[in-house]
Amino acid sequence: MPVSTTAPLIVFVNGYKYVDEKADPEMTLLVFIREVVGLKGTKLGCGEGGCGACTVVVGKMNLRTKRPIHYSVNACITPIGAVHLKHVITVEGIGNVRRPHAIQSALAAYHASQCGFCTPGFVMSLYALLRNNPKPTEHELEETFDGNLCRCTGYRPILDATKPFACPMGSKCCQNGGKGNGDDCKPCNSDFEYDPSQEIIFPPELALILDGGAMKLSVFRGPRVKWIMPTSKDELLDVLRMYPNAKLVNGNTEVGIELKSGKVLYDVQVYLGNIQDLSDIYFMSNGMQVGANVTLADLQRALKREISKFESLPCSYQTRSMEAVESMIRWFAGNQIRNVSTWAGNLATASPISDLIPVLSVCQAQLTIHGKNSLRRQSVKDFVVGYRKTTLRPGEAVTSIFIPFN
Ligand code: FES
Ligand code: FES
Repeated sequence: MPVSTTAPLIVFVNGYKYVDEKADPEMTLLVFIREVVGLKGTKLGCGEGGCGACTVVVGKMNLRTKRPIHYSVNACITPIGAVHLKHVITVEGIGNVRRPHAIQSALAAYHASQCGFCTPGFVMSLYALLRNNPKPTEHELEETFDGNLCRCTGYRPILDATKPFACPMGSKCCQNGGKGNGDDCKPCNSDFEYDPSQEIIFPPELALILDGGAMKLSVFRGPRVKWIMPTSKDELLDVLRMYPNAKLVNGNTEVGIELKSGKVLYDVQVYLGNIQDLSDIYFMSNGMQVGANVTLADLQRALKREISKFESLPCSYQTRSMEAVESMIRWFAGNQIRNVSTWAGNLATASPISDLIPVLSVCQAQLTIHGKNSLRRQSVKDFVVGYRKTTLRPGEAVTSIFIPFN
C-alpha cells in the first residue's frame, strides 16, 4: 500500500468489531472506549500512564505462532492506531453485576474498593496476569499491581483479595486442589476459582482477517497527524527515506506525554509495534542480540529464563550483564508501561532520567543503526551526546543492540 492511501481502522472491543473509516491518530484508546464505544468503566485519572485507572487488556495475534498473547496497557496513552487489528478487553468484557468475574467477586468480598475509581484498573491488571499465568505465586500477584494506585482503600485489602488466586507451587500447580504433586504439593483451593476456560476468546473473525494477510503497511490520516504502520524493517527504512524526520513511536509512553502538553506536534508518526523482524532476541556464547522492537517486559522475561539456566553453575560470568539489565527493568515504571515500551525507545529519547542508559553503557553494549543505504555500529556510551540528544541522523533507526557477557 502506498503511504498516501488511508486504511480503515479495525478494532475489536470485548468481542465486537468496530470499523472507523476516518480514524484520527491523535485519539487515544481511552477516548475511543469511553466516547466512541460508550463504555465508561475504564477511568481517566492522571492521563499520563502513572496511575493505572485506565488499564485494559489487549489481545494481539502472534503471526508466527498463530497464538494470541494478552497484556495490560494504559489506555490513556495508547494511540488508537496501536490497537489496529487487535482485541481490547475492558472491565465490562469480563463480568457484570449479575455475573461478576471471580476477580470482581473477590475484590468485593475483601472490601478492596471504596470510591471504586481505581478498581477497574486493579481488576484488569490482575486479569492480565491470570490470563497468562492462572496460578501465580503471592509474590507474582503483588508485583502485578506496580502500575496501579489507590488513594482511599489502602493496599492491604486489595492484596488480600488477590490471595485466593495464588498457589504456593506457582506455575507448578497441580490444578487438582493439592492432590497432584506428591509430598511437595500445597493446596490452593479457594472460593474464588479462576477458570481460564470461561474467558472471552480472541475473536475468530479477527483471527480470520489476520490469516488473510490484513497486517500490512497501513496509514491513518487525521486533521493534523499522519500515522504510518510498517510491518518490516525494509518498509520502515523506505518510510524513513520519504519522511526522514518522522517521529518513531512504539509504546508512546514518552511521546504521548510530550504531546499532552500541547506544546509540540509530530505531524508524521511511524508506529513500530507491528514490525516482527525487529522483535527477536538471540542468546549467544559471548552475549545477546536484542531487536529494537522488543518490549521491556519481553526482555525481562527472556533474561529471567536465560539466567535460570545458569543457576546450577557455581560461577558463571555470563549472567552478570544479564542480571544487571534485568534488575534495572524491574524498577522501570509499571507493568502496563513495560508491556509496550521498548529499550530502544528509552535510549533514543536520551532522557536524563533514563533507567537503561547507565546500565547499558557500563555493559559496553553496541547499537546497530540502519538507514536506507547505510549501516553503522556505535556504543551506547557514544550514542547519547547530551540532554535528549543522540547521534541518530534523519532517516536512521536503531534496529538492535548487542549486550556482551563481560
Ligand atoms: Fe492514569 Fe491512564 S489515567 S495511567
Ligand atoms: Fe478509591 Fe481506590 S477505591 S481510589
